Amino acid sequence: MLTLHELSTSYGPVKALQQVSFTAREGEITAVLGANGAGKTTLLRTVSGLQRADSGTIELEGRRLGKVAADRMPGLGMAHVPEGRGVITELTIEENLRLGGLGRGRRVQPADLDRVYDLFAILGDRRAALAHTLSGGERQMLVIGRALMAGPRMLLLDEPSLGLAPRIVAQIFDLLRGLVQSDGLSVLLVEQNARSALSVADHGVVLNLGRVVADDDAATLAADDQLRHAYLGF
Ligand SMILES: Nc1ncnc2c1ncn2[C@@H]1O[C@H](COP(=O)(O)OP(=O)(O)O)[C@@H](O)[C@H]1O
Ligand SMILES: [Mg+2]
Repeated sequence: MLTLHELSTSYGPVKALQQVSFTAREGEITAVLGANGAGKTTLLRTVSGLQRADSGTIELEGRRLGKVAADRMPGLGMAHVPEGRGVITELTIEENLRLGGLGRGRRVQPADLDRVYDLFAILGDRRAALAHTLSGGERQMLVIGRALMAGPRMLLLDEPSLGLAPRIVAQIFDLLRGLVQSDGLSVLLVEQNARSALSVADHGVVLNLGRVVADDDAATLAADDQLRHAYLGF
């Protein structure tokens, strides 16, 4: 689905990604793990065209991305949910969701909204409420729902679990798992919370100081004591 080949990105003298290569397979959740500063956000920003790579290639469904601008991503079937759960707090939940459909090149259909409300019932129940009334977990659902409004085949998620209670994280990850199973969606899930991410992911890639140090089945990574202690913090 998504293949990175020797991708390098820097900020001036800071080499944030160094020769990163891996594949995220179709219909799977691929977790990108690593400590704070490992290069996870830079990886997502480079894939979605918000950050320019120094070298290397990115292929989405066999199509080379490279110089594609970030605002064309929805048309390519990719949606990026950045860190921080940014929603427009003065708009309602439904209005926020509609914004997510704008990049799609056609009017938002009731069925697009219903699909999100089926997935996240709480958003449907409160569709007319202002987004500022939502809890952190509900906001995370809203930003994921907003991304789904663009009809992506590949979803990029940056630290969705950050600051949420374990119960809420489990709920959101279960929904993601369901979405992958029902819709064949492919997910690139960036997480510092390696334990939770590996429990939902099919595959995992571990970054350390911008380099890939492990790339394997999620279960294999979770069973590797040395790796867990050295890089995953659990
Ligand atoms: N805008 C920026 N300017 C300069 N350095 C940056 C910038 N963003 C990130 N970095 C540096 O790049 C490295 C990787 O950061 P980042 O991709 O945010 O890691 P992570 O998401 O894994 O915490 C870090 O050393 C960080 O300090
Ligand atoms: Mg980050």
